[in-house]
Amino acid sequence: MITAALPYANGPIHIGHLAGCYLPADIYARYQRAQLRDVKFVGGSDEHGVPITIRALKEGVSPQVIVDKYHALNKDSFEKMGISFDIYSRTSNPVHHKTASDFFKTLYDKGLFEEKETEQYYDEKAKVFLADRYITGTCPVCGNPNAYGDQCEKCGSSLSPEQLINPRSTLSDAVPVKKLTKHWYFPLQNYEPWLKEWLLEGHKEWKHNVYGQCKSWIDNGLQSRAMTRDSNWGIKVPLPDAEGKVLYVWFDAPIGYISATKELTNQWADYWCKEDTKLVHFIGKDNIVFHCIIFPSMLKAHGDFVLPDNVPANEFLNIEGEKVSTSRNWAVWVNEFVADFPGCEDTLRYVLCANAPETKDNDFTWKDFQDRNNNELVAIFGNFVNRSLVLMHKLCGGKVPVFHNAIIDEDDKALMDDIRSAKDKITQSIEEYRFREALFEIIDLSRKGNQYLQKKEPWKKVGVEGGQQQIDNCIHLSLQLTANLAIYINPFLPNTAKKMLHMLKVVERMLQWKNAGSFKLLSVGYALRAPELLFRKIEDDEILVQINKLKSNSTVTVTEQKAESVPANDAHAPVKEQIVYDDFARLDLRTGKILAAEKVEKADKLLKLEIDLGFEKRTIVSGIALHFKPEEIVGRQVVVAANLAPRKMRGIESNGMILMAEDNQGKLYFVSTIEEISAGMIVR
Ligand code: 2FM
Ligand code: ZN
Repeated sequence: MITAALPYANGPIHIGHLAGCYLPADIYARYQRAQLRDVKFVGGSDEHGVPITIRALKEGVSPQVIVDKYHALNKDSFEKMGISFDIYSRTSNPVHHKTASDFFKTLYDKGLFEEKETEQYYDEKAKVFLADRYITGTCPVCGNPNAYGDQCEKCGSSLSPEQLINPRSTLSDAVPVKKLTKHWYFPLQNYEPWLKEWLLEGHKEWKHNVYGQCKSWIDNGLQSRAMTRDSNWGIKVPLPDAEGKVLYVWFDAPIGYISATKELTNQWADYWCKEDTKLVHFIGKDNIVFHCIIFPSMLKAHGDFVLPDNVPANEFLNIEGEKVSTSRNWAVWVNEFVADFPGCEDTLRYVLCANAPETKDNDFTWKDFQDRNNNELVAIFGNFVNRSLVLMHKLCGGKVPVFHNAIIDEDDKALMDDIRSAKDKITQSIEEYRFREALFEIIDLSRKGNQYLQKKEPWKKVGVEGGQQQIDNCIHLSLQLTANLAIYINPFLPNTAKKMLHMLKVVERMLQWKNAGSFKLLSVGYALRAPELLFRKIEDDEILVQINKLKSNSTVTVTEQKAESVPANDAHAPVKEQIVYDDFARLDLRTGKILAAEKVEKADKLLKLEIDLGFEKRTIVSGIALHFKPEEIVGRQVVVAANLAPRKMRGIESNGMILMAEDNQGKLYFVSTIEEISAGMIVR
C-alpha cells in the first residue's frame, strides 16, 4: 500500500511537491508493479482545513469553488507528469466523510478522547471562532504588519495569537476576544511508551532525517491534541452536542488514504487490515509528525489497521538557491512546466530525481535542468541507445545479429558483468528508497555502453577478415544492454521506456523486473524499428525565458545572481549601455514580408522563413517555432536586420534576423504597423 500526501486543493502544485513526495512515490509504485507485487498507489486532494477557507475568503468565493478548481488542475498535472496513481480521490467524497466519521466514532466509543473546554479566540462580528491563521497583526520580532497568529511569513518566527501586536480578525477586522468552547482531544502522551517501542526501537532503519525528527518530538514529551475545530467547512463531528464543529483536518486527511482505497476496490481491507501488508507513506518533511506519530497512534488506537512500515520523507527543494514561497510566487508550477515543455516531462522527472532532496535540502536551477538534459540524457543515455540502433541498421541489416560465443573477449565479459551486477545494485537502492543512487547507476550503465562501443569501434571492422563476427557480438550485446536499460529506466522515465519498447518492437511484458540482467531479451534475427531520438536538446534561450519568468513574477529579491548573465527582462528592463549614433547607423533595418515558413527538421524551435525584402528574397532561420505555427505567420510584416553576417543553423544559411517584441513572460509578438507597408523600406 503506497500513499502520497494529499496536497491541499488551494493552489497548484510546484516541482518541490513532485521532488519531495510524488515522484519518489511513483518510482516506487512503478518498480513494485514491475516486480509483479500486488500494489495499490493512492493519492488525492486534501479539501478541508484552514488554508482552503482562507483562500476562499481572499477570492470572495465558497471553499467548494476553490477545491473544485485545484482538484481538477492538480489531478491533470499529476497525470501529465506520469504520476501513476491507481486513484486520485478527494476528501470531499461521501465515502471519505463516512470513513473519517466512523473512525472518529470508534475512538469516541472506546472512550479514547478527552473532552475539554478551553478559551479560544472568537470574532464577535462574524460570530465564529478563529483559527490562529485567521488572526493577523504586527509581528513582535520583525514588525511585519501582516503576520499570522501562528507564524510570521516575513521573518519565519512561529507565533501564537497572544504575541501579535494589534491583533485583528481577517474575517471582519474585529479585535478577537476569548470565548469558551468544547473540543475532543486525543491524548498522545498515552501512546508514548508504545511509540518508543514501535518507532524508536522498532524502526531504526528509517531515514535519519525522519527518525531524528520523531525522536526529538517523543523526547520532548507528547501532549493531548484537539481533534476537532470550530468551523463549518469539513467533516461534521458525529456527536449530538457538536453543532458548528468539524474534525481537525489532520485527523481526517490521512484517513483519506483508506477512503481512497475503499473507492478503488471492494478488496480494500486486503491493503489496510492484513498483517502482511507493507504500508509506505511518501511525504515531505513538514508532514513527518503527522504520519509518524499522530496517524500511527490513531491507527493503533482504532485497532483494525496496519501501521506504516516506512515513511521515507524527503527534505525540501529550493529553487535557484532560494526557498520555495508560494505566497511570493517563487516556484516552478507543474501546470506551467507541462505547458512550456511538452514532451520533456521525463527530463523534469530525471532532474528532480537526480537532485532529489533525499537526505538534505537540495537546489533546482534551470541551468542544471538544461545541463543534465543535454549532458546526461541526450549525450549519454540517449546517445548510447541511438548509436546501438543506428549501428545495427548500418552494420547488421536492421536485425539483431547472432552472438558468437567462440570469440567472446574481455570487453564483452566486462560489459556482461556490469549488466548483471547493476541489477542487484539498482534493486537494492530502490528497495531502500535511495532513488538518486539507483538512477545514477542506470546512467552509469549506459555510460559503460558508450565506452564499450567506443572501444570496439565496430564501424572499423567492416570488410576486415573475421570482422563481421566481431561486429555481430558488439551490436548484439549493445542491443541487449539497451533492452535492459529500458527495464531499469521504466520506473523513473516511463515515457522513455515506452519509446524504447516501440523501437525494439517488444511488448510491455518485457519490462518486468525479473527480466533485468538477461542477455536474451531480444531474439537473434528479430527486425527492429528505425531509431528515434529519446530526448531533445534544450537550448539556452528556453532556459533564459524560464529564469526571467521566475524572477519577474516573483516578489522574492534574489540575494545573489546565481544564474548566468541573464538579460534583464522584467517589467522595466534597464536600458542598455549608451551608444552613439554611428553605432546605430551601422545597422541596416528593412521592412520585409514573410512569404513562406516551414519547420526545420530536428530543431523544435527553428522556423525557416522566406522573406521578401522588395529588392530580393532571403532565407532567414528564426527561433520562433515554439511561439508560432508556420501557417499562421505567412504574410506577416516584419522588420529585418538586413546586414547581419550570414550564419549556418542546422545546415541552413540564415541571412539576417527578424525583430520581435518579447514580454516579461517570454512571449513573442510581431512588431508591425497597422497599415500595409511595402517590403524593402529602410527603418531608422
Ligand atoms: O501538507 C499538506 O499539503 C497536507 N494537505 C498533507 C496531507 S497528507 C495526508 F494526511 F493526507
Ligand atoms: Zn516577523
